[in-house]
Amino acid sequence: MSLWAVILAAGSGSRLASAGLSVRKQFLMHDGAPLFWRSLRTLSRLPELAGLVVVFPPEMFDESRALLRDLLAREPVGLPCLTAPGGARRQDSVASGLSALPVEASAVLVHDSARPFLTPDLAARLSDALARGHKAVIPGISLADTIKCVDADGRVTATPKRANLRAVQTPQAFDLALLRAAHAHAAAEGWDVTDDAMLVERLGEPVLVIEGEPGNVKITNPEDLRLLGPKEEEVPAPVTGFGYDVHKFGPGRPFVLGTVPIPGAPEVVAHSDGDVLLHALMDAILGCLGEGDIGRLFPDTDAAFDNASSAILLDEVMELSRRKGFRVLHADITVIAQIPKVGPHRERIREAVARLLGLSPERVNIKATTEEGLGFTGQKQGIKCVAVVTALPPGQGPRTNG
Ligand code: CTP
Ligand code: MG
Repeated sequence: MSLWAVILAAGSGSRLASAGLSVRKQFLMHDGAPLFWRSLRTLSRLPELAGLVVVFPPEMFDESRALLRDLLAREPVGLPCLTAPGGARRQDSVASGLSALPVEASAVLVHDSARPFLTPDLAARLSDALARGHKAVIPGISLADTIKCVDADGRVTATPKRANLRAVQTPQAFDLALLRAAHAHAAAEGWDVTDDAMLVERLGEPVLVIEGEPGNVKITNPEDLRLLGPKEEEVPAPVTGFGYDVHKFGPGRPFVLGTVPIPGAPEVVAHSDGDVLLHALMDAILGCLGEGDIGRLFPDTDAAFDNASSAILLDEVMELSRRKGFRVLHADITVIAQIPKVGPHRERIREAVARLLGLSPERVNIKATTEEGLGFTGQKQGIKCVAVVTALPPGQGPRTNG
């Protein structure tokens, strides 16, 4: 069997155009490539596939071919990719695609590029059924809704038994000689159909329905565009802030790290409570907000901040973050000190910091390192801490953090 794929991308996308979409849906940019590329890429991963034909709108044939050439240069698929101009109806585009197939082709998968979510597994199951000798195989799924037949006045004329109904999808897989014969009949008899299987049915040939994929939907109406996820420019772009702080050891305040007291550690000289970790963390958050540093927000010339609890100051920074519409997502903090040993207290610090940030502990990381006896930390004269905070700026994703 020499299996080829015909990918239909020649429609006018009129239902989306009338809702204001300015490009035909198959050319809509998604994940850095036009939508039709997604089906092409998925089908090209089928090991049995010998090649593809993409059917483009005749009015934009040259530019479409140039686009395909660029995409293939960027991401080669390792298969021949031919093109054919489409026709007025879907079935005309299929017929044109079939006539572009090389002589050795003996079977074909006909696929709507408006169904970008098919998986390689679906294509493989269709190909397997062909290999088992079936000449027409299509994917279908059971229906959740009851279906009514109605007349021109909207009056119900029949209710088919739901268990016997399937909503069918593409790719549809055929023995090529059979599908060609079906299309020839359609042309001769003036048949007008909405899928290729219908033509084969009219020839009286059996068509097998295998299990389709609920996710393999067709992008048809404006609400379907949501299935493509946010546009590139709508993807939330997080911001990052960096903070750094140093405290000198010496008579002053009892040692705390992320509000956790560490017994046996030297005292620190500080105007506030000297929590070096929370100070670096606050500066990192302020970095995300573009609000300078804690010295600007809480000047040490202001007696109000004398021995101020860093946890309360952090609360104020978080309040500022909320007011400005930011959402703190993650904090990575490194304590640099010869003494005290941070490891035994790491989990408690992590939990305390997470609580203060309104995050789960998995979104906070606490590390510690020495400087190998070098510098002021190595000489046990003081401690330093660096923090990196990631946040979502206003207008991007839900706001929480309490
Ligand atoms: N198609 C095609 N040639 C046509 C009509 C349709 O190649 N003359 C393709 C479409 O590009 C699409 C698939 O057939 O991938 C299914 O058609 P549909 O979802 O109806 O797309 P459009 O016809 O483009 O959209 P609309 O019906 O809203 O105009
Ligand atoms: Mg259509």
